[in-house]
Amino acid sequence: MTGRMTGRRAVVTGGASGIGRAIAAAYLREGAAVVIADIDAAAADRAAAELSSVGTISWIGCDVTKSAETQALATESARRLGGVDVLVNNAGLSGRGLITEIPEERIDALLAVNLKGVILCAQAFAQAMLDAGDAVMINMSSQAGKRGWAELSVYGATKAGVLGMSRALAVELAPAVRVNAICPGYISDVGMAWRGWQARSDNEGGSAASIAEHFAQENIPLQRLQSAADIANAAVFLASAEAREITGAALNVGGGVVMD
Ligand SMILES: NC(=O)c1ccc[n+]([C@@H]2O[C@H](COP(=O)([O-])OP(=O)(O)OC[C@H]3O[C@@H](n4cnc5c(N)ncnc54)[C@H](O)[C@@H]3O)[C@@H](O)[C@H]2O)c1
Repeated sequence: MTGRMTGRRAVVTGGASGIGRAIAAAYLREGAAVVIADIDAAAADRAAAELSSVGTISWIGCDVTKSAETQALATESARRLGGVDVLVNNAGLSGRGLITEIPEERIDALLAVNLKGVILCAQAFAQAMLDAGDAVMINMSSQAGKRGWAELSVYGATKAGVLGMSRALAVELAPAVRVNAICPGYISDVGMAWRGWQARSDNEGGSAASIAEHFAQENIPLQRLQSAADIANAAVFLASAEAREITGAALNVGGGVVMD
């Protein structure tokens, strides 16, 4: 199906790579105009150039941890797009570490990007989205925001925080803005989990694909990992009119690894 987002004006943070890039591509295919915002200007420029044949896309450099930059992003993206109907707060950092060992700088970075960054973007875009009406905010959480995994206490805290914020904003910004979260599982083809499989392959031998497949068979009810496109499908659905009665949800896209 295409055309489910015709006329929609979307901003995707962290859109230069990984899941964010897949969401930007899917939104373009569905007819939206897209601005990708990313701290990595070179990657954002590359992604926008590669996706320009699909639809109307541009990029804006932005560090989501700095309110001056998120405010400038909101102003400039609204100017380019003529308003903003859809905001995907996807920019994020990974970070494993035992609680006894994780360095303070890593804790600060995770809180700054994964939690404060989402808050600052929500703050910067809220009024424009209230003005637009029929708007949608999607916040990227994680299965780690719902279930415990060793070495993911700080990352999990940021992702649980995103869920709390999403639910509160689903009330505060209603009825003009629907606010939902997505909780991806383990992504096999791009992004931070994929880099994790690669690192394990480098350390332990064996291909990243076979390590990932073994993990999936042991740990995931559907016995497979997810792709960035699976997350993008969920982001299209939540942004579309098909989801018009859905707000305050935290949609699991993880093959059943978390069920609630
Ligand atoms: N990959 C997975 O398996 C997985 C699972 C669950 C949740 N997630 C979440 O999905 C989101 C995307 O992850 P991904 O795997 O695509 O990661 P990724 O590292 O491929 O992409 C993250 C993007 O965010 C950008 N970014 C980082 N810090 C930023 C900042 N301060 N300001 C603006 N942009 C910044 C990066 O430059 C990058 O383009 C993250 O929020 C992540 O926590 C990923």
